[in-house]
Amino acid sequence: MYTGLQHLHSYLAYLVLLGLLVSILTAIGGWMQNRPFADKDRKRALLGLIPTHLQWIIGLILYFISPLGAANASGAAMKDANSRLYILEHPLTMIIAVVLITIGYSRAKRLKLGKARFQSIFVFYGIGLILILSRLPWRAWFAVS
Ligand code: HEM
Ligand code: HEM
Repeated sequence: MYTGLQHLHSYLAYLVLLGLLVSILTAIGGWMQNRPFADKDRKRALLGLIPTHLQWIIGLILYFISPLGAANASGAAMKDANSRLYILEHPLTMIIAVVLITIGYSRAKRLKLGKARFQSIFVFYGIGLILILSRLPWRAWFAVS
């Protein structure tokens, strides 16, 4: 189960990045053209939201079964940059990113003006993506996949 979830989390990460990129580019396009926010735009935003939500649930489970997660938490491990990334920085930053992305989607659904709705996706997904990129375990990721 551990290995399966580890690989799933590793491959799903590509979909997360791709989905967020498609959502953000669509939002920039709609904003620049100043057009109304159509249902197809909401579906594009879902391409960023759904893999991200799935990923965080899988990450949460991994945190409790991976030897790199909760099991490794200790004062000594916190002094090691790589251990600290898995114990604290990666999970915390990702959860903040997921919350921001969800707020961006939710606002885009509620707002009335097309421009404001595209801006909501652009700004919240954009900050979420930057946070995600800042705390990915890049080296381990490329070694596995
Ligand atoms: C298998 C995991 C999950 C999948 C596939 C998933 C999928 C989705 C989808 C498709 C939406 C958009 C619904 C809409 O159009 O209104 C959504 C929204 C949302 N989800 Fe998830 N989700 C998952 C897990 C979670 C979990 C565990 C939480 C919270 C603990 C969560 C919190 C939310 C919230 C707050 C929204 C925002 C609703 C809104 O304001 O539009 N999701 N999710
Ligand atoms: C939605 C954003 C997230 C993305 C894009 C993401 C991405 C990744 C990637 C690329 C790896 C490296 C996988 C590998 O070694 O090949 C990883 C590992 C890991 N992630 Fe996430 N993650 C996310 C959210 C989370 C969350 C919310 C948690 C925990 C609460 C979490 C916990 C972990 C753990 C424990 C590992 C190490 C797994 C192991 O190799 O034993 N992740 N993540």
